[in-house]
Formats: sequence, structure tokens, C-alpha cells
Amino acid sequence: MTSPPAFSLRLPRIMGHRGAKALAPENTLASLKAAAAAGVTWVEFDVMLTGDGAPVLFHDETLARTTGAAGQMARTSLEVVRGLDATRHFAETYSRRAGKAFRGQPDCRVPTLEETAACLLDLGLTPNVEIKPTPGLAARTAEVALSRLAEIWPKDRAAPLVSSFERESLAAAKRVVPDWPRGLLAEDFPADWREAMAALGCASLHMYWRRTRRADVAAVKAAGYAFAVYTVNGVRAGRMLLDKGVDCLITDRPDLLVPALDA
Ligand code: G3P
Ligand code: MG
Repeated sequence: MTSPPAFSLRLPRIMGHRGAKALAPENTLASLKAAAAAGVTWVEFDVMLTGDGAPVLFHDETLARTTGAAGQMARTSLEVVRGLDATRHFAETYSRRAGKAFRGQPDCRVPTLEETAACLLDLGLTPNVEIKPTPGLAARTAEVALSRLAEIWPKDRAAPLVSSFERESLAAAKRVVPDWPRGLLAEDFPADWREAMAALGCASLHMYWRRTRRADVAAVKAAGYAFAVYTVNGVRAGRMLLDKGVDCLITDRPDLLVPALDA
């Protein structure tokens, strides 16, 4: 027997992914603004450390996919990272025309966590801060990012949700910001979910949507945890997952999912 969750977490039905990845360049202020404009109240984004230890919004270990620059985030200084335009992947994947319009905009540079917090507060968004460490920096990334965010985030606003695939990052989050809810990320349903979520004091499980089974959702929900899935970009898939009992769909396409499923 394990004890009930430390937090009871009410997740929104629809949450933007990397801001709103299909609507503006991922993990940028432009993407947060696009998510808010599409009607979500929560956004997920990824936080990583630069080579000199500054928390920034970024997904990959290497710079190339989103910025076109050579090198690795963990070996690049904040000064250099701040000069990078993060529109490349968006332009190549979604829209060359919109990508061209975004290119060079100040809101499309790689943002610091501090700039992000100011933008979120301005937009009235609640963050799901995914700690995305480069190898070897799981605890350090959470410690640096969350202690900095805790200095900025007002106490009278809903606390940020901290999520990660890295259990070491969640353990660090529990030490640094014990009162903020935590979400365990998993590609496959973790056999030890009960023990892991209890030990890490998690409030939610966030799973890859294609591997999410009705019975697993029911078991997790019955234990008192919230259940989120990523990354759901179609209305039919979203409806099927909600029918399975999932609480929250993390999506690149809030423009599609909010009007269809967030009635
Ligand atoms: O937090 C949900 C989702 O973002 C996890 O996967 O690779 O998109 O960060 P990834
Ligand atoms: Mg993520």
C-alpha cells in the first residue's frame, strides 16, 4: 500500500505544448503568446541549462534543429544562445511563409527562464515546466531553474507544475520547491508508477498518448493522481483519450483542440 498523492492537481483539459509548437516557433515567447491567443490557460515548455548554467527554454541537446547553429547547448554560453533565432524548425515543418515572418523577431529568440516567467505572468498562463537536462545535469538543471523561478513567481499565483522524464530532476524539485506539484513523464506505462510517484511526491502522470491504455488511466486516477498525455494534435485522438478518462491533452494545436474539446 502507498499513501495518497501529496497534491490534488486540477489540470486543464487542453494544454499548449512548447507554447503552441504548430502555431509559432517552439519554446519561444512568440509560442507562449500564440498558445494564449488560442485559448489555453496552461503551457508546457522545456528548460535546459546553457554551458554557463543559465536556464533557457530549449528542447534538444544540439542547437541545429531549431536554430540552424552548430554545437551543443551544454557547451554554448548564454551570450551566444541569446543571439540565436529559433525559427528554423517551424519554418521547415509548418509554414515557410509564417516562418519568414517570425524570423528575426525578438520574441523568436531562445528565451531565458526569467523572460519566460514575465511573459507568462503577463499573459495569465500557468506553466508546466519540463526539466530537460543534458546528461549528467538532471539534479543541477532542476535546482538552478526552480530556485530562480521560485524567486520570481508570485505566491498568489497558481504554482507552476514541474515535470520530467528524469526522476533525479523530480527529486531535486521536491527538495527545492516542495510545495509545487510534480508530474512524472513516461513514454511507456511505468511498472513501478505507484512507488515512484509516491516517493517523488508526484501529482500527475504524463504519458505518450499512443501507449496510453484505459485500464492504466483508471488505475492512476483511482489512486488520486491526474493523468495527462502528450502530444495530441488531432480532435479524434483527443476525444478518444478523454473517453479513456485522461484529464489533460498536451497539444501543438490548441487552435484545433480548444474549440472542439474544451467546451
Ligand atoms: O511534457 C510533455 C512532452 O513535452 C514530453 O516530450 O520530448 O516533447 O519534451 P518532449
Ligand atoms: Mg517537453
